[in-house]
Amino acid sequence: MLTDDHRVDESLTVADPTPDAPPAPATRVRAVLDVDLPGPRINRHLYGHFAEHLGRCIYGGFWVGEDSEIPNEGGLRLDVVEALRALDIPNLRWPGGCFADTYHWRDGVGPREDRPAMVNSHWGDVVEDNSFGTHEFMALCELLGADPYVSANVGSGTVREAAEWIEYLTRADDSPMARLRRSHGRDEPWTVPFWGLGNEPWGCGGGMSSGAYAELARQYGTYSLDHGDNRLYRIAAGAADADYRWTEVLLQNLGRYLGDGEVTGHGKNTYQAISFHHYTIVGPTWEEKGSATRFDDDEYYRTMVKATEIERIIAGHAHVMDAYDPDKRVGLVLDEWGTWFDVEPGTNPGFLFQQNTVRDALVASVHFDAFHRHADRLVMANIAQTVNVLQAMLLTDGDALVLTPSYHVFAMNKGHQDAASLPLTVRGETPVRDVDGTGLPTFSGSASTKDGSVLVSLSNLHATEALVVELDVRGSAVGAPVGRLLSAETVTAHNTATDTPVQVRDLDDLSVEGGVLRVTLPAHSFATVSFTVDA
Ligand code: AHR
Repeated sequence: MLTDDHRVDESLTVADPTPDAPPAPATRVRAVLDVDLPGPRINRHLYGHFAEHLGRCIYGGFWVGEDSEIPNEGGLRLDVVEALRALDIPNLRWPGGCFADTYHWRDGVGPREDRPAMVNSHWGDVVEDNSFGTHEFMALCELLGADPYVSANVGSGTVREAAEWIEYLTRADDSPMARLRRSHGRDEPWTVPFWGLGNEPWGCGGGMSSGAYAELARQYGTYSLDHGDNRLYRIAAGAADADYRWTEVLLQNLGRYLGDGEVTGHGKNTYQAISFHHYTIVGPTWEEKGSATRFDDDEYYRTMVKATEIERIIAGHAHVMDAYDPDKRVGLVLDEWGTWFDVEPGTNPGFLFQQNTVRDALVASVHFDAFHRHADRLVMANIAQTVNVLQAMLLTDGDALVLTPSYHVFAMNKGHQDAASLPLTVRGETPVRDVDGTGLPTFSGSASTKDGSVLVSLSNLHATEALVVELDVRGSAVGAPVGRLLSAETVTAHNTATDTPVQVRDLDDLSVEGGVLRVTLPAHSFATVSFTVDA
């Protein structure tokens, strides 16, 4: 099954699990929801985030410095912290991305005035003064109540550098790195659960083959130690998109340890998870990815086709992993996902600043539906990126903070975190639209249950027509349903510092009769319905 090239020929390894859908548009869809058939837990880390030293994500987004007039705690923007806490943000990945493989952590600790500067060669070729470093990041995670996910420099760093960073972060005694940390004002070690072994090693992370990287991942994983009670979940940097062969090579190199039944410690698996990245990019070329806000319905539908591809790609990686790891000891991590459009006119092309419309919200909602359906294997996902970059949750404009439509999807869906997934099965015809020869289902949905209640997420991807959803709820009566709706007049609608047309409101068109929940979704909208179930 293996060839020399890390870009896979998809026909090599995995059959496409997504069958063609029938081309029959409809304005009504019927589905069955079995509330007494709980499936795998939806790991809360599927709602994770990513913050890179890129454009205005860290500087201006999270970090304004102690002297700023913008309210801050130790230099960290409090409006941003508050907005993210409201999402129950489970983890934050840092410092990259491509930046991670150019980053030398020792340059970012100690007195700020003594920290050496560096060139951020990937993102705008700007000078990075390292004023936001390890202590600032860990303080941010503490304020957010989020688990840190730190990515080590495998591309241009050393094994020793990575080993010493994790010692600096997590060791309690008087080891050299623990002493260095104390000299910088932090006595207690931090807890670092997630540890990335480089980033995109096939590209910006070193231009390596899968085999060469697998050797390095084992080496870095071996010397990234568990100090004291800290247990690292080491994540090997994985494939681009549907490069299933990259995943396979990493599994083959981990192979002799898989049977141990242990996932940490000396002589056990040197990495516990394998990542991959997938962005929703429409084209037609990399230079012309299209505007984030000015697009027609055809471009909208093409974006949705791209977004729904995530289901096939997750299934493809999971399929390869099942062959080597049927007991699912190794996690699959999608640590970069989201839309990638042209930057806003007049902004630095290296800063990847783009606006965010109802289209982005629907890209997010269909991704989450796919994540929920693959919760048995997919353990973490990180939106790229949290503030001011790509598919952001938040945009800052001076002292103003804008909640994007994507933010609202994360907020409306947060009840799925750590809930048990539930099967939601369309019965009969799925509404489908032909998009350049591809059948795009214009309905997407998923559900979960936790603490005696059910949360259902429903998306109508049709640009111009409403959709009636009839949900036959089986296994329990439907108690006290509450619906929330994210919609706007147009699919290009977006929020700014002065105008917020994309808001969440109550979903009024909601009824229950004979165990059937009936909801009308306006065109291009996302809704959630929650209800209690019998004990
Ligand atoms: O998120 C922006 C960039 O996209 C990341 O730095 C890199 O990992 C990916 O190519």
